Amino acid sequence: MAYDSTAPNRHGPVRDWAADWDGLDDDWGRRAPEIWQDLRASGCPMAFTERYGRAWMPLHHETVSQIAHDTEHFSSFRVSVSLPDSPVRKAPPITSDPPEHHAHRRLLLPPFNAARIAALVQPTREYCRSLIAGLDGRDLADAAKDYAQHIPVHVIAEMIGVPESDAEVFRDWVHRNFQEAPRDNAAKLQLQKEMVAYFEALLAERAADPRDDLATLVGGAEVDGAPLSLDEQVGYLILLILAGIDTTWSGIGSGLWHFAQHPEQRRRLAAASFDDPLWIMAMEEVLRFYAPVTMARQVVADTEVAGCPVHKGDQVLLTFPAANRDPAEFDRAGEFVLDRAVNRHAAFGLGIHRCLGSNLARMELLVAFQEWISAFPDYHLDEGDRGVTTWANGQVRGPRAIPVRLR
Ligand code: HEM
Repeated sequence: MAYDSTAPNRHGPVRDWAADWDGLDDDWGRRAPEIWQDLRASGCPMAFTERYGRAWMPLHHETVSQIAHDTEHFSSFRVSVSLPDSPVRKAPPITSDPPEHHAHRRLLLPPFNAARIAALVQPTREYCRSLIAGLDGRDLADAAKDYAQHIPVHVIAEMIGVPESDAEVFRDWVHRNFQEAPRDNAAKLQLQKEMVAYFEALLAERAADPRDDLATLVGGAEVDGAPLSLDEQVGYLILLILAGIDTTWSGIGSGLWHFAQHPEQRRRLAAASFDDPLWIMAMEEVLRFYAPVTMARQVVADTEVAGCPVHKGDQVLLTFPAANRDPAEFDRAGEFVLDRAVNRHAAFGLGIHRCLGSNLARMELLVAFQEWISAFPDYHLDEGDRGVTTWANGQVRGPRAIPVRLR
């Protein structure tokens, strides 16, 4: 039967996660780890849906890893599970496959290397302190809205060379891109039009007046001896702004939500000096346990995964967060172990597309946790009349409101 995106109830509430999963279902944001756990326990190797055409969802580390490493059968040209006839745009390196991928990735490696990110620690620390100073005298706060959401925008805006005063514009793009566009082609086209216009104007400004930022780097870049097309330049910048914001915002928020409910872990951290390895272990465990990012692939040649035949044209969600809680891969997989010593998690992906911003993301999470927990060692969740924690669903999952009492 031909796919019909207007069929009634195509996006109604999910009742069967094994045969009709949907990452945009209201339950996903709040409960995705439980959903994966229940599916694994039921013996399901991969969940399936026809809400976006045919799309699969693996549940085990081994399967996620197999797909992420197999660029012959699985292409990155579409990295979000979306309607089969949805418009796709190039956003290298994430949307490129071998052999082109390598050169696109190489272009972006230097600005995200460890030395360049180390230079951002102190400014990021000072920025976090300024946000905390803004809460002076308050007993109540929202750890997502007053803190987590601002840090990644502040850092990536400066790196790319866009004004931080456009933060609301960028957060609106992120919301529409991950939560509306996958099931609405017109919304996706409109968003793409706005992002393209914004970055074409920025690239024109930098061509006339170069600066030391990523917009200037991308505007003047060559790949394999040829200049990038304007379309590719815009694609790079769209990727950097989208990948740089809600991923890290979700990671910081998830950690703050977790520590708000675990006083004994919070107190251990508050008592540790900033160079104590406990901080790094805690940050890595937040990434494992609350990994915010899932990405998609499109099947380009028929093959078999976990005993399921997958066909050319099918989509697959790469559930790195589900892989991170697979008991076949991790001891005490379903438990948050603050001082987990060996932690080879897949939060930043597996294979050639492994996160290029991982040094930056780790630095932001670490500094954000250190500053918040030292300032508010007794903060705790304060859900009730003032509201509850709300979660973004879709391919980047994390808390968007976290009501807390600061002392
Ligand atoms: C906690 C925060 C973050 C998480 C969990 C995360 C996760 C991921 C994952 C899972 C991938 C692999 C995608 C795939 O296989 O298709 C990826 C790729 C990527 N990430 Fe991140 N990311 C984070 C922060 C960032 C930041 C701050 C940036 C900076 C702009 C960034 C830039 C990128 C880029 C450019 C790629 C594509 C790399 C390639 O295709 O070679 N990420 N990220």
